[in-house]
Amino acid sequence: MQRLEGVRQMNSTKTESFGILTRELAQEIDKTINHYRSNSTKLVGILLDIQDIIPKQYIPREVAAYVSEKMNIPLSKIYDVISFYAALSDVPRADYVIQLCDSVVCKVTGNTTLRDTISQLLGIKEQESTPDGKYWLEYTPCFGACDISPAMRINGKVFGHLTTQDSVKAVLDQYR
Ligand code: FES
Repeated sequence: MQRLEGVRQMNSTKTESFGILTRELAQEIDKTINHYRSNSTKLVGILLDIQDIIPKQYIPREVAAYVSEKMNIPLSKIYDVISFYAALSDVPRADYVIQLCDSVVCKVTGNTTLRDTISQLLGIKEQESTPDGKYWLEYTPCFGACDISPAMRINGKVFGHLTTQDSVKAVLDQYR
């Protein structure tokens, strides 16, 4: 509640930020919640959309508390959802979140080349970020791109047919 009062206070002053939950971010969150008509069954989609607009791609505690208050959902339920879904995080990740599919079709079609090339080029393993905070690497369950496996997502954008080092490098070069 303290945080929300802070945001309301910001609306009447020139202050641009209140921790990470700036007035602009609060407005974007409001828009997202309204877009889903504040439907609690859409909470995963709401949190994913909000996470996308936050630097380092995570749900900070102030934001979780704001969503909880706005949607009248217990904060513990928000954290249950964050911890259940691999695509959601409550810790800062990176500018570019790289998600490697680790489900059966991608395994069979050879996601080890993909994994090894990323580790080699960026110097990170699963659940690690580069020292400059630019890239984060994690595994994720199937996201429906089996027909172009092995596949990965970067900030939600899907790339497939990543069977060679060159193909992986070409994708990463787009995020330099
Ligand atoms: S198994 Fe990898 S996208 Fe479906």
